[in-house]
Amino acid sequence: MDLVMRPRRLRTCDSLRRMVRETRVSPDSLVYPLFLVEGQNIREPIPSLEGQWRYSPDRVCEEIGACMEAGVRRVLLFGIPAQKDACGSSAWASDGVVQQGIRAIKAAYPECYVITDVCMCEYTDHGHCGILCGHAVDNDKTLEVLAKTALSHVQAGADMVAPSDMMDGRVAAIRAVLDENGFETVPIMSYSAKYASAFYGPFRDAAGSAPAFGDRRGYQMDPHNRKEALKECALDVQEGADILMVKPALSYLDIIRECADAFDLPMAAYSVSGEYAMIKAAGKAGLTDEYRVMCESALSVYRAGADILITYFAKELAQAMKKGDLG
Ligand code: PBG
Repeated sequence: MDLVMRPRRLRTCDSLRRMVRETRVSPDSLVYPLFLVEGQNIREPIPSLEGQWRYSPDRVCEEIGACMEAGVRRVLLFGIPAQKDACGSSAWASDGVVQQGIRAIKAAYPECYVITDVCMCEYTDHGHCGILCGHAVDNDKTLEVLAKTALSHVQAGADMVAPSDMMDGRVAAIRAVLDENGFETVPIMSYSAKYASAFYGPFRDAAGSAPAFGDRRGYQMDPHNRKEALKECALDVQEGADILMVKPALSYLDIIRECADAFDLPMAAYSVSGEYAMIKAAGKAGLTDEYRVMCESALSVYRAGADILITYFAKELAQAMKKGDLG
């Protein structure tokens, strides 16, 4: 055969295949979500998320140690408070569960980069992401409590805040409060395009944050929409977001690609609880190879344009990257 181009030539051995890889990743891009639960001496498994645990603030450093060892140096904290009320007031308590956790982590591991999720749904007794007015979430009233919460996280020592509530104007509101209080160098990673997704199911079990009535479609995005993601990202850029995020990841690779192409900010993708649970379950059932599916799906998110990957597989992926299975 007289073939000039033989693409297979570049696939002939592992050494060459690694040399010509188009997508390069590093453990520095990984963020590990962690659940903090109020109380003492708690390390309890999360039934819906096999291999994930809830920690009380006094024990969270065990897990941070394991992360550091695995090469994961960035965490995203979620809090599960003892008390919930209509306005989620434990979210901004200076001795709240996240605030205690931040202090514990920073005292033991100052080099660990601590990001906090800012949202009301784990703190409200109705499970919605803000302050209710009737059965709807009141956008502008919610901005105030989100800003207070973000500020209290930063005052406790958080390095970055990540609002996930999907209220309009929350990046601007948080930016203003942080700046007024002398925290103008603390970045905001905005959950810019967060879809109303069934893939959050296991998380809501883990965090006890399922809405008591209705759903989140009045504030999270409709999965049918693509242009709306660009609009949300553009607004977040205008409001002063430092990092944009698309969430979930796997079913929204097209959105990650478009947003990554359209904006100059670093792009994060959150591979959510349902994605993790599916990979685990299929592996456990003997249907797929869990390790390889984990690597391949993470890779797809990076290939789509994500610079940062938030994932429950962070430690395992860091190891895979070190081995070069994902490199
Ligand atoms: C809080 C929040 C959620 C997730 C991240 N932040 C839940 C939700 O919106 O219902 C989901 C994360 C996951 O599924 O892993 N609003």
